[in-house]
Amino acid sequence: MTVLVAYGTTGGSTAEIAGWIAEELTAAGLGVRLLPAAEVDDVAGYEALVLGAAMYAAGWHADARHFAKRFAGRFADRPAWLFSSGPLDHTADDTDLPPNHQAEVAMGLLPARAHVTFGGRLTAEAHGWLGFVARRMEHEGHAGDFRNPERIRAWARGVATDIVAARQQA
Ligand SMILES: Cc1cc2nc3c(=O)[nH]c(=O)nc-3n(C[C@H](O)[C@H](O)[C@H](O)COP(=O)(O)O)c2cc1C
Repeated sequence: MTVLVAYGTTGGSTAEIAGWIAEELTAAGLGVRLLPAAEVDDVAGYEALVLGAAMYAAGWHADARHFAKRFAGRFADRPAWLFSSGPLDHTADDTDLPPNHQAEVAMGLLPARAHVTFGGRLTAEAHGWLGFVARRMEHEGHAGDFRNPERIRAWARGVATDIVAARQQA
């Protein structure tokens, strides 16, 4: 029995969040497969899903959006959770930020039972166009790493507990 942890990332920070979640699920005794959402060909055989996406321009990363479309309806009988990562400030920790429209659509499609928003990361070390934007935003005081590993790991431990509970109900 394996849990799929899939993610859509451009700068790598959402991939790292997914990695922290995968570590907690593994520590809770669950089997875990950690994959970029675009590399998932099939979801048969997984007992649960965690799908995460970086937010860009008030949208959800295309790889995660496409994942939700490709596997629409496939999680009707298995638990699925979504997370978004993005805000470059502490609002995600201070308040319960709702899913944006595209994340909400993904929730309905799979379907998913819950969604959480985590802070994001944008630093001047980013490569390519992201680095260009990051350096400009840093100049304006909007860059930094606003991810909160402890909160993310605690959320993942809650997901692990719910997956085990879902097993017992099945
Ligand atoms: C051009 C651009 C647009 C962004 N738009 C949003 C946004 O609409 N909402 C948000 O919360 N974060 C936004 N962000 C912040 C990113 O979501 C954040 O940097 C995230 O951690 C990136 O994840 P990744 O490293 O996995 O790609 C934006 C960042 C950039 C560079």
